[in-house]
Amino acid sequence: MSSSQTKRPLQSLNSRALKGDIRVPGDKSISHRSLMFGGLAIGETKITGLLEGEDVLATAEAMRKLGATVNRDNDGTWHVTGVGVGALREPDSVIDMGNAGTGIRLMAGIVATHPITTFFTGDASLCKRPMGRVADPLAEFGAQFITRERGRPPMAVIGTDEAKPVTYTLPMASAQVKSAVLLAGLNTAGTTTVIEPKPSRDHTERMLRHFGVDVDVSINDDGGRTVSLTGPVEMKAADIVVPTDPSSAAFPLVAALINPESQVTIRDVCLNPLRTGLITTLIEMGGDITITNEREEAGETIGDLVVSGKNRLTGIVVPAERAPSMIDEYPVLAVAAAYAQGETRMCGLEELRVKESDRLAAVAAGLAANGIIHRIEGDDLIVTGGDVPGGGMVETHLDHRIAMSFLVLGLGANDPVAVDDANPIATSFPSFEALMRELGANLAPAGS
Ligand code: S3P
Repeated sequence: MSSSQTKRPLQSLNSRALKGDIRVPGDKSISHRSLMFGGLAIGETKITGLLEGEDVLATAEAMRKLGATVNRDNDGTWHVTGVGVGALREPDSVIDMGNAGTGIRLMAGIVATHPITTFFTGDASLCKRPMGRVADPLAEFGAQFITRERGRPPMAVIGTDEAKPVTYTLPMASAQVKSAVLLAGLNTAGTTTVIEPKPSRDHTERMLRHFGVDVDVSINDDGGRTVSLTGPVEMKAADIVVPTDPSSAAFPLVAALINPESQVTIRDVCLNPLRTGLITTLIEMGGDITITNEREEAGETIGDLVVSGKNRLTGIVVPAERAPSMIDEYPVLAVAAAYAQGETRMCGLEELRVKESDRLAAVAAGLAANGIIHRIEGDDLIVTGGDVPGGGMVETHLDHRIAMSFLVLGLGANDPVAVDDANPIATSFPSFEALMRELGANLAPAGS
C-alpha cells in the first residue's frame, strides 16, 4: 500500500449474532516462504491457496526482480520457476517490500549470501522497523548492510560470495530472525546453526524439508530449540497447498465469541502447534471452540474451528511463554478481554512494540478511546472486561491488525467503533470486510 493513499475510515456497529461457514485467506508466513523457496529451487513449484495480500504480492515481485519466474493462473494457482540457490541475479531497481516485515527480513537473509547488491525499501510503517536484528547475524556471514539511523530501512545489502557459516543464539523469540539466518545458510559452505531460547513458528524448517533440504532440529534442556542445516544446498521444486491463516481466522473467531447468539465455522485453518496460542487462551477463558476434521497437508496440521458465542468469557493470566505462539493475536485478544468477566493479564509483550506499529501503545490507545479499563505494567497489558461502551475513533498507524481488531470490538459495543483507516487490511486479509459482512457483521463507512 502506498503511504500517500487517502485514508478510508470504517466503523463497526453492534451486530448481535454472527452466523455462517467461512474460509479465510492463505497463511501469510507460509505464502511468503512458498514464493521465496520456489524461487530458490530448481524446477517449477505450483502453489495453491496463496494469500494474495499486498505483503505477499511484494514478495512475488521481489523474487521476479531477483530472476525467478512467477506467474498466476486465472484460477488462482501460482507457478514459480526457480533459479537455484546461489544463482539469484542482481536486481536492477529498488525492491519495495511495502508493509512486510517478514518479506524484508527473510529476503535480506537470502540475498546476504549471494554476490549481489540489493536495495530494499517499504512503506512508512516498515521504514520505522528495526533491521539490526537481522543485519547483525547476517554480517557475521560476511554481508554488509547500510541502513538509516537505528537500523531503519531503506536498506542496502551487499551480499558475499565467501560466506562463513554462523552459529547464532537469538536474543529475542523471532521466527523472522531465525529464518533470515537459516536462509543465509543455504548458500554457505558448512553448518549454520540457530539456537532459539523460546520456540517460534517453524514454517521455514518444515518447508525447507519439503523442498529437499536436510534440517536438523533438536529440543534443548530449557525447552528451546537448536536448528541447523549444512550448505550449500540444492533445493528441488515442490508443490505447496497453503493452509488458511490462523492469525486471520482470529478475527471472526473472537467476533463469534463476543456475540452470544453466534455460530460460526472457520474452515481449513493452519493448526501448527506454534501458532495456536490464541485458541488455547480463548478455550481457557471459557470460549466454546471445537476443532473438527483435523488432518495433515503439505507438512502442516489443519482443521476446522467450530465456534459459538454461548459462553461468557472469563479473564485469565496469559503466560509470557505463550507469546511466540500468538504474537500477532494480542490486539484481538485484548478485544476478547474487553468482553470477558474480570481481569485478563497478558504477560511479556515486549515484541509488540516493534510490529507494524507499536502495538502495545496502539492497543492501549484504542481501548482508551472506547472506554475500556486497562493498564500497562512493564511489558504486561491488563484489561478489565465488562460493558463495552465503544464510541471511539481508533488510529491504525498503517497496522492491519489494529484496524481489524477494533472493528471486531465494535460488533458487540454499545456505540459504533471507528478506525481511521481500513486500507492496511489489504496487506494480509483482503476479503476481511466481505467475509465479516457475510457472517452478519455491520460495517459501514465512517466520517474521519
Ligand atoms: C513471522 C514472524 C513473526 C510474526 C510475523 C510473521 C514469520 O514476527 O509477528 O507476522 O512469518 O516468520 P517475529 O519474527 O518478529 O516475531
